[in-house]
Amino acid sequence: MQTMKLSNGIAIPSVGYGTWQSPDSEITVTGVKAAVSCGYRHIDAAAIYGNEVSVGKGIAACGIPREDLFITSKVWNADRGYDQTLAAFEKTLSDLGLDYLDLYLIHWPAASHRFKRWEEINLSTWQAMTELYKAGKIRAIGVSNFKPHHLAALMKTEVQPQVNQIEFHPGFLQEDTVRYCRENGILVEAWSPLGTGRMLSNPELQEIARHYGKSAAQVCIRWCLQHEALPLPKSVTPSRIQENIDVFDFEISTADMKSIDLMDNFGGSGLDPDKVLF
Ligand code: A2P
Repeated sequence: MQTMKLSNGIAIPSVGYGTWQSPDSEITVTGVKAAVSCGYRHIDAAAIYGNEVSVGKGIAACGIPREDLFITSKVWNADRGYDQTLAAFEKTLSDLGLDYLDLYLIHWPAASHRFKRWEEINLSTWQAMTELYKAGKIRAIGVSNFKPHHLAALMKTEVQPQVNQIEFHPGFLQEDTVRYCRENGILVEAWSPLGTGRMLSNPELQEIARHYGKSAAQVCIRWCLQHEALPLPKSVTPSRIQENIDVFDFEISTADMKSIDLMDNFGGSGLDPDKVLF
């Protein structure tokens, strides 16, 4: 598995196994084990997915030493603030059955449409994450779904975000956010790189995929990598889990990258951090 580098020097495996919408059941335990046996070493979890116990069982049973895995989780919106974040972190560690995380993210920013003192809320959450990082309980810290104005409020802190995990797939490029992250040394991770699977029925994408002898899913994942966005495809289907990591043996041409960049968005979640009501 190839790796990318975070601004604090830590290596992060270039494709992660997504677990959003995976059930809290044996299906996810099996999915995590299948992913690790295919070669994934990076698993993306979150408290709100409600499946961290199953993800943890998969990790415990996968037969790979903990230090060879890269495990991410996220603090949910209801747990914002200093004390709540510390408590949420302990709950996530216990559910996953781990004693440290590789990466911990603020799942969504507190935003001005809902909170008058949104910057203060994000800063107090961030302060807790910074202390956990300095105590060695997390190897890297970051955010998710932050736009440039949310990020800007965190850039003067003692430890700056190393990752911003955003929705990113053909038809949804979030160029302003990606540019801001690049200029500030923040690695972009792509959630729903397949547009929650819906982008895969795009005939133009399928045609490009045929040209490379690859699937539309593999083209989406490779397209993320060539944009230097770290893809986190979700699947509980063993054949797809394997397919989604077989993306290191081809390169999308500049012309095809451009065509994919220009595709319409019909797989997006429609979620805007400045409008969501959760
Ligand atoms: P499943 O988990 O049943 O295999 P995203 O990562 O963009 O959110 O997309 C996840 C969705 O795409 C899930 O419904 C998943 O289904 C489906 N999916 C994942 N990988 C593939 C693939 N290689 N081919 C087709 N569908 C896929």
